[in-house]
Amino acid sequence: MSVGSLLILPGDGIGPEVMAEVRRIIDWYGEKRDLTFDVSEDLVGGAAYDKHGTPLTDATMDHAQEVDAVLLGAVGGPKYDDLDFSVKPERGLLRLRKEMDLFANLRPAQCFDALADFSSLKKDVVAGLDIMIVRELTSGIYFGEPRGIFEEGNERVGINTQRYTESEIDRVARSAFELAMKRDKKLCSMEKANVMESGILWREVVTEVAKDYPEVELSHMYADAGAMQLCRWPKQFDVIVTDNLFGDLLSDAAAMLTGSLGMLPSASLGTPMENGRPKALYEPVHGSAPDIAGQGKANPIACILSFAMALRYSFDLGEEADRLEAAIEQVLADGKRTADLLGEEGVTPVSTSGMGDAILEALDNSL
Ligand code: NAI
Ligand code: MG
Repeated sequence: MSVGSLLILPGDGIGPEVMAEVRRIIDWYGEKRDLTFDVSEDLVGGAAYDKHGTPLTDATMDHAQEVDAVLLGAVGGPKYDDLDFSVKPERGLLRLRKEMDLFANLRPAQCFDALADFSSLKKDVVAGLDIMIVRELTSGIYFGEPRGIFEEGNERVGINTQRYTESEIDRVARSAFELAMKRDKKLCSMEKANVMESGILWREVVTEVAKDYPEVELSHMYADAGAMQLCRWPKQFDVIVTDNLFGDLLSDAAAMLTGSLGMLPSASLGTPMENGRPKALYEPVHGSAPDIAGQGKANPIACILSFAMALRYSFDLGEEADRLEAAIEQVLADGKRTADLLGEEGVTPVSTSGMGDAILEALDNSL
């Protein structure tokens, strides 16, 4: 049974290496679960620049707008550092996010029990942690006008503007409430309504949207207090929704509660398409890791978990996403570790494909 279309953009560095493991898992779903994806693959980032002189061609962009989900590996690398800003690999990714209007960035912070020792926090603070930060991604202070560096009297002044319209707040709040409905029905909204007018409006609009979701328990917190609470007792949260700037900081901080960059997935969602599915881009949080690229050392789990998010949020296959996450949990509990996850003495790391093998075996065992 075909469940929908998926555009794969492996990109640069370890991107193609981790994506190869995702391809094997996609094949497994076809063979063992009769769930086939209409998969296409294309270039992005430096790989696209090398072939086409641009980090994202118009044809690839158009295709990305049509598919149910885009899955991206990573872009960039030292080879491209001296390129003009307009054709840098990162521009390909930014163009995708902008033209698909992906306003809701989902960043889970999930701690697999077997890796709880990896956290900088005490084991009981993070073991079993499973929270989701929803960061507004297309507006706020990174985009607001006026912006720039101006002369004022005899010195320069740097200006950025935090600006949010009601509709921008409304749509990201709705995404967060929808998510909360599928999870523990608890949402905490973070801003600084004590010192920022955009924060006052944020709180008002979120409170208004809450009327459509009476089952969800809504709370508000100042973002600085939220940062403290995330470090003190993160398990008090389920879904957090916040603006672009605070979300940038809070999601990175929350991610590190759980250990390695090689474990962190993300999703960016936009408005629903004609078939009701949101435009969607899934990608690991990590970059192209040039220091380990080509050595078979990369941890594919971040990219595989990104695919699990695609199963859940684009293809409505939540149970299959659970299955895949459980398989990863099992493999980690069995002591399998890529090099980035090595803490204990005497454990031999598995390679990128070795981790893929183990996850496929655990998937087989789940049947
Ligand atoms: P990075 O995330 O590529 O690497 C940081 C460190 O984490 C490195 O030591 C790397 O080996 C390790 N690491 C990352 N992912 C790993 C994985 N899956 N398994 C094992 N170890 C892993 O960030 P860095 O070094 O700052 O950037 C490298 C390049 O990637 C740059 O060109 C940067 O612009 C680009 N980049 C791209 C991103 C994207 O495509 N979304 C995000 C961040 C950086
Ligand atoms: Mg950041």
